[in-house]
Amino acid sequence: MRSFNHSIEIHKLLKTREYKNLGLVPTMGSLHKGHVKLIEKCSMECDESIVSIFVNPTQFNDKIDLANYPQSIKKDIELIRKINPSAIIYNPMESDLFTSPAKAENFDLDGIDKIIEGKYRKGHFQGVATIVKILFEKFSPNLAFFGEKDYQQVLVVRKLIKKCNLDVKIKTISTVREKSGLAMSSRNFLLKKDTRYNAKIIYESLCIAKKMIKTHDFDKIKDFINNLFLLDKKFHLEYFYIVESTSLKEVTSFNPDVKIRAFICARFQKTRLIDNIPLN
Ligand code: PAJ
Repeated sequence: MRSFNHSIEIHKLLKTREYKNLGLVPTMGSLHKGHVKLIEKCSMECDESIVSIFVNPTQFNDKIDLANYPQSIKKDIELIRKINPSAIIYNPMESDLFTSPAKAENFDLDGIDKIIEGKYRKGHFQGVATIVKILFEKFSPNLAFFGEKDYQQVLVVRKLIKKCNLDVKIKTISTVREKSGLAMSSRNFLLKKDTRYNAKIIYESLCIAKKMIKTHDFDKIKDFINNLFLLDKKFHLEYFYIVESTSLKEVTSFNPDVKIRAFICARFQKTRLIDNIPLN
């Protein structure tokens, strides 16, 4: 099976196949073990799987970040083949998705797109919602698969589905990590080996917060984590939030009845890495 650049070819192919459940795994390529787990889950739960690979310009607020985004299309296609030889790979040109110039829509997402990561990457989640809606409308998948590594993205997609009345069910997987604890990310490929190892401070900080959560003021936890990064020679802490898990609103004290999560972003030079974990 080759990869497809045009959705019309995929529609033709799907007409020749009989299936009950069509699954979609949207990606931007440069695949790693997190993506592998998503594709495996999709392949297990659906009798047809589409994996899309497209570096979506509308979700990049920084042109340099877009230009530097790692790409390895040949390797990606080989990897998908190994996981599921009959998976349909969609690797479109921009013109198959957008009329020129590619532009984000403006969705009312009840502000979930404007907090945490959205505060630091203006318009990012509008761009994500735009491409995800285009892909959903193109292929009408029954199920779509996303990772909790981008937990806020999952909430944005759920909100999009609700607001636009889209008929698709979201399935999620937990974050896949390197041995050091660092969350797998295509952006990790931009780091040299030693810096990539030093990036474990990001997950370590989240684990420290989890340990402290019942016994320390949240302000003390934040100070502690801020200081960890001040002592670190490489990574700069961009943000650390403790928030309620569904609204993503900040919380200031521990209540065992309220589910909370910690979100973090740290940067080495231009490379931003994000992560999050549940705290209770
Ligand atoms: P990308 O970063 O390629 O991620 C594709 C999918 O893989 C997302 O659902 C993401 O949450 C998941 N993923 C990434 N790293 C993971 C990890 N370590 N463990 C588990 N899942 C992981 O997210 C995007 O692309 C784009 O925003 C996209 C949804 C494709 C829209 O352009």
